Amino acid sequence: MKPKVLVTREVFDEVLEYLSQYFEVASNQSDVPMDYETLAAKISDKQGAIITLSDRIDAPLLERCPNLKAVCNIAVGYNNIDLKACRKARVMATNTPGVLDDTTGDFTWTLILATARRLTEAEAYLRKGQWDGWKLKQFLGLDVHHATLGIFGLGRIGQVVARRAIGFEMKVIYHDTRRMPSEIEEACRATFVSKDELLAQADIMTIHVPYSSETHHLISQPELKQMKPTAILINASRGGVVDDSALIEALRSGTIAAAGLDVFENEPKLNPGFLELKNAVLAPHIASSSRATRYKMAMLAAQNLVAALTGKTPPNLLNPF
Ligand code: NAP
Ligand code: 8YV
Repeated sequence: MKPKVLVTREVFDEVLEYLSQYFEVASNQSDVPMDYETLAAKISDKQGAIITLSDRIDAPLLERCPNLKAVCNIAVGYNNIDLKACRKARVMATNTPGVLDDTTGDFTWTLILATARRLTEAEAYLRKGQWDGWKLKQFLGLDVHHATLGIFGLGRIGQVVARRAIGFEMKVIYHDTRRMPSEIEEACRATFVSKDELLAQADIMTIHVPYSSETHHLISQPELKQMKPTAILINASRGGVVDDSALIEALRSGTIAAAGLDVFENEPKLNPGFLELKNAVLAPHIASSSRATRYKMAMLAAQNLVAALTGKTPPNLLNPF
């Protein structure tokens, strides 16, 4: 008898074929997101699951899953999984680090350039038929080249973003929980600064920290007030790292100039305040969404699950026990 596993969202056929070699697979190819109760009911008799950021794995759910041995996120971020509860229940948890760094870094740059040069605002104006001709002062933006890029979190993705800044001849400063080794600083041409210096000096500040109780509302009203009125804030990390209400107010009042956002609090529900703002470029959590990268993420999650349920250590185990 093959172990039973659940795949909570639609994945590529090749991933299902691979999993089917080892497991009896129940998959949600209709891709309707499962609420907590539906997930609990469907996972309760399974030995493993491929999950995504919207599937919450916590102690009450684990109590209902006596056979569960592994939950494998199709995501590098794992704030949807209570690792402590998993360890207690002896359930392995895995993520997908590394395979999405370049793609997510590229999209961060998409947001930086689109926001600095007001692309979505200008395109909307054009599409509405409002363009009546060239004007010297039309859609004046911020120069990205030679500006100061502030990176909050110089981890895997933060480093990719920094290295791409070299082509724009930018000054790169960063803040992290600790100073990075000199080889990384040199490759990124990045200088470590305090949080206060980062906020005060960045022309463009981009966030690449994970979401946790420590990073909840890392950027809220006091931090926004420390930024330059001409500054741009970019967030392709996680909703909740930025206080959305405080950001909306800062964008309305001119505390900062603009924001480019891929992630929001309470996704997929958006604070309606964002929709009225011309100085916000908004994307529906697509930073890792190239075909090649989403394939690698799903396949890596599947490989983690196969390892976990065949007596091996999964390559991306988050909670060794
Ligand atoms: P990573 O390699 O772990 O880098 C995160 C960095 O942030 C680490 O150096 C970490 O330091 C630092 N950090 C943590 N808390 C901090 C704090 N309070 N202040 C300053 N720095 C702090 O992670 P990654 O692979 O680059 O991914 C980062 C996050 O991006 C993920 O957790 C995920 O939520 C998000 N993400 C989003 C998308 C998307 O589609 N929008 C795609 C991929 C990833 P320590 O190691 O000391 O904790
Ligand atoms: C995913 C992400 O698209 O990897 C992450 O942490 O945020 C994205 O790459 C998403 O989390 C899918 O679960």
